[in-house]
Amino acid sequence: MNDSDTDSASAIKVAIYGPGAMGLHITRLLRERGVRIVAAITRPGSEKVGEDLGTLAGLAPLGVPVRSDAKETLEETEPDIVAVAVSTYLDEVMYEIYATVVRAGANVITLAEEMLYPVPTAGPRAEQLDELARRHGVTVTGTGHQDAYWVNLVSLLVGSAQTLHTVEGELSWNVDDFGPAVAKQQQVGQTVGEFNSWLANATRKPTFGRTSLYALAAAIGLTPKQPETRTTPVIATKTTPCQALGEDIAAGRVLGYTDTDTLHTEEGIELIISSTGKVYDAGESDFNEWRTTGRPALHLRNDHVITPDTTCTTLVNRLSDVIRAEPGIVTVDRLPQLRYHATLGSASPR
Ligand SMILES: NC(=O)c1ccc[n+]([C@@H]2O[C@H](COP(=O)([O-])OP(=O)(O)OC[C@H]3O[C@@H](n4cnc5c(N)ncnc54)[C@H](OP(=O)(O)O)[C@@H]3O)[C@@H](O)[C@H]2O)c1
Repeated sequence: MNDSDTDSASAIKVAIYGPGAMGLHITRLLRERGVRIVAAITRPGSEKVGEDLGTLAGLAPLGVPVRSDAKETLEETEPDIVAVAVSTYLDEVMYEIYATVVRAGANVITLAEEMLYPVPTAGPRAEQLDELARRHGVTVTGTGHQDAYWVNLVSLLVGSAQTLHTVEGELSWNVDDFGPAVAKQQQVGQTVGEFNSWLANATRKPTFGRTSLYALAAAIGLTPKQPETRTTPVIATKTTPCQALGEDIAAGRVLGYTDTDTLHTEEGIELIISSTGKVYDAGESDFNEWRTTGRPALHLRNDHVITPDTTCTTLVNRLSDVIRAEPGIVTVDRLPQLRYHATLGSASPR
């Protein structure tokens, strides 16, 4: 595909903020869908500064150098929307990243998990960002795998219920899809005693499951009450090789853990999600499974989900929804039903 084909296929101009594993995957998907990428931004000091985004993504050069001067880059290239894939929580660094994009007059679409439904956990900072985005007339939305598999599919499923008591999801991801830092964070290789002592002393941030349950509650029209998180280790029943650590985990040691989040609601319906991150045994793969109690009881299971793909394809299919949404932080429950877009449309006015 040459540049003129690309330009005619879509008028949307996108920038990539955070050219890591996800940002580069988004780059490849956008090129495949004919979307024009006008800029790439990373942190000052990154060894990627000056590299061509296409080359980094394993494509032909795009003529888009990775830059670290975010404000100037955005002013010069004027993207309609910036895909941000840097980190999870709305901390000071991430606030500044989103604010820089917003002040440049561009919409933000991000994979940051907390941004799926940021107000309950990120409070004042989320409200400040919402106000800033409204003032600049642009939208900020968090999407990704959860938008598709933990919110949209589930709200569609319960649309066929007459009565609903519980909505319970179970999902799993493989520690070996990531590096040693994630394996250590999942306590892989620890004894049960070491795990329990870590859990007793750890100050953990809100789980991805909790944020997703807030988004799901909003999508179903429920009023959240208190959330709870329970964490349990997954113990190896036989020696299991861990690629991320390059070592075998002996039987009786920790392979990872499960966070089970529950969100009680004013309506009396309980939303639950159990997310397991562990070292997989041969033959295991990612899955999402949802069950409801009530009438009728409902069941939905997706096997062999390729989570890194569905994360990024969901973002790509959300571009025009975000561009067309009202200004402010607009969570996915306030966007149209997620769908495939055969053409990715144009950056037409809201
Ligand atoms: N919602 C979902 O389903 C989902 C799934 C996967 C990931 N995610 C999110 O996506 C994020 C990125 O994941 P990843 O696997 O792509 O991580 P990654 O490979 O570490 O990529 C992060 C990128 O951000 C850059 N960066 C770091 N700090 C920065 C800063 N202050 N300003 C600008 N750029 C900065 C890094 O630059 P250097 O390479 O130079 O350090 C790197 O290019 C995760 O943290 C997570 O929040 C979401």
